[in-house]
Amino acid sequence: MTSSIRVSLGERSYSIVTAPSYAALPAQLARLGMPAWACVVSHQALLDRFGPELLGPLRRAGWQADTITVPESERSKSYAMAERIMRQLARRALMREPLLLAFGGGVIGDLTGFVAAVFRRGVPYVQLPTTLLAQVDSAIGGKVGVDLPFAKNFVGAFHQPRLVVNHVGVLRSLPLRQRRSGLGEIVKYGVMADPELFRYLETHVRGCVAGHPTALRVMVPRCCRIKARVVSQDERETRGIRTGLNFGHTLGHALETATGYRRFTHGEAIAVGMVAASRMSVEMGLMPASDAARVTALLRALGLPTSARGVSWSAVSRALRFDKKFLEGRMRWVLCRGIGRVVVRHDVPPALIERVGRACVA
Ligand code: GLY
Repeated sequence: MTSSIRVSLGERSYSIVTAPSYAALPAQLARLGMPAWACVVSHQALLDRFGPELLGPLRRAGWQADTITVPESERSKSYAMAERIMRQLARRALMREPLLLAFGGGVIGDLTGFVAAVFRRGVPYVQLPTTLLAQVDSAIGGKVGVDLPFAKNFVGAFHQPRLVVNHVGVLRSLPLRQRRSGLGEIVKYGVMADPELFRYLETHVRGCVAGHPTALRVMVPRCCRIKARVVSQDERETRGIRTGLNFGHTLGHALETATGYRRFTHGEAIAVGMVAASRMSVEMGLMPASDAARVTALLRALGLPTSARGVSWSAVSRALRFDKKFLEGRMRWVLCRGIGRVVVRHDVPPALIERVGRACVA
């Protein structure tokens, strides 16, 4: 069965389609008037496994479908890798415009979207996310970019995809650690906007961790609907609405950077970040301590870390200074007023940030 959620952005509107295969993709691309040359950016292992299922229908429908592969690592989300892809595209792109297909997780989506934003001043791209995290979050909303070694997502753009296709089958072979990483983002949606989803996670831990089809059918569309609504209301994060999606991300990004993008998955890092943000929220008198305890208990039950022992606090605090939420010398923190309600604050005392941050890494 195919279902669809709309991201409403005027002429940049697009659908998030949930589908059992990529069989309908050629017809969907044709309806959108996409260029006839499709270049799939992905990892070799993914292409070995799912390539025929993706490339077959495209080629049978008359698309020229080429591939570009990048190594499977957060470190591939680099300016150097983007340039390598652009050089390959430029050599093949003589006198024609490519359609880029981002076939992979968050790294592939962000990197491919970045290339699509700048190559020939912008070409269309489609997100074909293959991880839980990408299906519920990173493939939606057009935030694209690359990391600098000392600052995550620091170079980028807003460039909306033309379509997102969530193939439910590709999640079946997802490794447990990747599933858990996606669950980190799903907990975030519960905390920021959906107490019922949070409750569902609490009461269905086993099915969620196992990636049971029923759990996925509940979680994925729910998160996509929240993300579509938030992005439709505040595409460029200028109205303070989209900022809420960054609950747990401030410390989370700093942990990823401070550990060279090697120790934590994104979901693991934001899990620690959500514990820290909850603690700050309690100490600022915003969040009931019992709700903060629920956040920590849920993350633990899902097998996600709630602290980052052994990480250097000075490296984390250095990375925090490069957070994009640092505006005019004041740091924006997404805090919580209780499960389902977040608030953006600029007045978190530096001493509190340091105390909570140090406690997370001690
Ligand atoms: N992942 C946060 C955002 O898209 O705004």
